[in-house]
Amino acid sequence: PAVRDAEALRVTITAGPTHEALDPVRYLSNHSSGKMGYALAGAWARRGAQVRLISGPVALATPPDVERVDVTSASEMLAAAEHAATESDIFIGCAAVADYRAETVAEHKLKKTDASETLTLTLVKNPDIVATIATRSPRPLVVGFAAETHDVERYARDKLARKGMDMIVANDVSQAGLGFGSDDNAALLLWRDGDDTDSQALPPQPKTTLADAIVGRVLTLYAHRAPT
Ligand code: C5P
Repeated sequence: PAVRDAEALRVTITAGPTHEALDPVRYLSNHSSGKMGYALAGAWARRGAQVRLISGPVALATPPDVERVDVTSASEMLAAAEHAATESDIFIGCAAVADYRAETVAEHKLKKTDASETLTLTLVKNPDIVATIATRSPRPLVVGFAAETHDVERYARDKLARKGMDMIVANDVSQAGLGFGSDDNAALLLWRDGDDTDSQALPPQPKTTLADAIVGRVLTLYAHRAPT
């Protein structure tokens, strides 16, 4: 039985991919399974936190005692996140949000034509959800994720600062059997400690136990955090 050391904390987590519609039957997306975000939601709930899981389209069961809000696109995820953030102590951005969406969503199914061998789509940038939540005042403790293929620590440090997050969980997605779609993952946690950055490396392990280790570190950081 888990220690209920997160009771009274309100935690919001984004998870899974987003789908960005191109027309009524097509979308842009990525291979995020949502497993890490769902594992985190379960870990927080087992410790007694009040958990809201803002989920993109995934094929996973909702963990016990978790309130799930289903969304499809990044814009919908942002709206749900902004709403939830006002009532959250901790915000964890675990979703693999699509970086771009179609500038215009075609009203009717796009047709293949004989006139051209190419089709050009114009994409526009999606809002950055964790960065948006991190600019609020007052704001929850903000934790983000970073999937990198090389120079993991350097890119993660940069992202931590650029997005104004309190902690970042960085994964090396080039390692076989870890990360996207897998049940296992390893992570490097980086968090701000005054003007310094502290870190902790978590070895490869099931996403469920990794989630619990991340929750432990977030709780410690939350306990030491200066009020905003
Ligand atoms: O920049 P990058 O996508 O690598 O950053 C990853 C982190 O930012 C994750 O925590 C992800 O959930 C968050 N993110 C977001 N909104 C976006 C893009 C990324 O919240 N549009």
